[in-house]
Amino acid sequence: MSVAHGFRRIGVLGAGQMGLGIAFVSALRAKVPVLLHDRSATQIDKGLSLMDKLLAKDVSKGKISQADATEARERVIVIGPEVGLKGLRDVDMVVEAVSESFAIKQSIFSTLPQEIGPNAILASNTSSISITKIAAATVPQGLSAASEEGMRTAARVVGLHFFNPVPVMKLVELIPGLQTAPNTLESARAFALACGKTVTESKDVPGFVSNALLMPFINEAVMHLEKGIATRDDIDTTLKLGMAHPMGPLQLGKFGIGLDTCLAIQRTLYEGTGDSKYRPSVLLERMVDAGWYGKKNGKGFYEYEA
Ligand code: 3HC
Repeated sequence: MSVAHGFRRIGVLGAGQMGLGIAFVSALRAKVPVLLHDRSATQIDKGLSLMDKLLAKDVSKGKISQADATEARERVIVIGPEVGLKGLRDVDMVVEAVSESFAIKQSIFSTLPQEIGPNAILASNTSSISITKIAAATVPQGLSAASEEGMRTAARVVGLHFFNPVPVMKLVELIPGLQTAPNTLESARAFALACGKTVTESKDVPGFVSNALLMPFINEAVMHLEKGIATRDDIDTTLKLGMAHPMGPLQLGKFGIGLDTCLAIQRTLYEGTGDSKYRPSVLLERMVDAGWYGKKNGKGFYEYEA
């Protein structure tokens, strides 16, 4: 069943695993043309070949027809690094899915409004960074953030938090910042529903509901390993077989999220709340110091094939 969302065309910033997944469900489920931008041409190529694989798998399993797959693929238009953000001029919404760094998001949200239409929504797939803070980055220099004009773009910023792997996970978490207008929130909700997701809403607190609960769980598992309470496999097996989790926390911390992203989220939680329960474990810090990020670069608590 298709759900009306009213978007003629959207942009997705970032062709990594999250951005690509968002482009995939937007093109296939919401049936909306997607302008996919990444500053790396190699990342775009990797993303598109994953999309081709996912579509071919869904066709071979009889989940979608070949015509659906072809149409979805044709809806994805690449905006390469040479064109940049100005290629997104004609979209009704941009979904930002770049690295989990406020500095990078701040630079995007301060320049993007000049490139896109005055009514376009600016959604962030951030896992933990304040939507209010991201929205504040859109206020043009020299304008008061409290003025009507200063708030005009900030009112169109919203958190649209997808889960990895996006084609499979059924949830989108919706986060309004202090400035988010009610119609921005409702349009973003309609879009997530059209992508086939169930939507929950969270206040703009560090980590929102999802990562404020998930990250201490993963961190505690790393601390159990660090203290030698159990082996990696026994920790993961306990949660998989004892509690029916599809993946153990150590496997999840590397497969789905990446240890570097886990650490970035945990730091945001710790710094944003000052609560010691969110303090990242020393072992996680060291793994990231070593450059071991998990499945995304082949080494973490587990070894992965390239
Ligand atoms: N991309 C797309 N599809 C994928 C995929 C990927 N990376 N990995 C697996 N799938 C698909 C498979 O193709 C298969 O599809 P099918 O039903 O059409 O055959 C389906 O998922 C099931 O895959 P498998 O049978 O190979 O393996 P599993 O039964 O183990 O399922 C899993 C894989 C769905 C990833 C499951 O292990 C799982 O649910 N893991 C937990 C994932 C999770 O918790 N994600 C949330 C991370 S937190 C997050 O994203 C928030 C962020 O802010 C940090």
